[in-house]
Amino acid sequence: MLAIGSDHGGFELKNHVIEHLKNAGIEYKDCGTYNEESCDYPDIAKKVADTIISGECERGILICGTGIGISIAANKIDGIRAALCSDVYSAKMARQHNNANIICLGGRVTGRELAFMIIDTFLNEEYAGGRHQKRIDKIHALEK
Ligand code: RB5
Repeated sequence: MLAIGSDHGGFELKNHVIEHLKNAGIEYKDCGTYNEESCDYPDIAKKVADTIISGECERGILICGTGIGISIAANKIDGIRAALCSDVYSAKMARQHNNANIICLGGRVTGRELAFMIIDTFLNEEYAGGRHQKRIDKIHALEK
């Protein structure tokens, strides 16, 4: 299962992404926001992150205006590796090298079709493990 969430700045792109996921037959949990009213991106980052930490969802998508605030917030939560990506190569490396469990996008930055490609890449790529694992372990040691 995939969790998805946005603030008001990412709301429009979130709706497009949800349509894309539906068309691809991908199961998702929509963690809000559910309208264009102003809201606070840390609240949405926590909702999506909680589904991953609890094991309910394997990966997540977070969208705010730039993707910056929501990625900073998500990365404060132990066990979350959130990658802000605006290109396909970074999305691929975020999975292969960083084992990212959340991808972040800027709804006011990245166009719809590119966002779909970035998300598809994030969902299809696997973590390479090996030499990367000790680096991931060191990231998590920083949480202590
Ligand atoms: C909201 O206006 C905007 O600040 C937010 O969506 C995001 O871009 C923050 O990083």
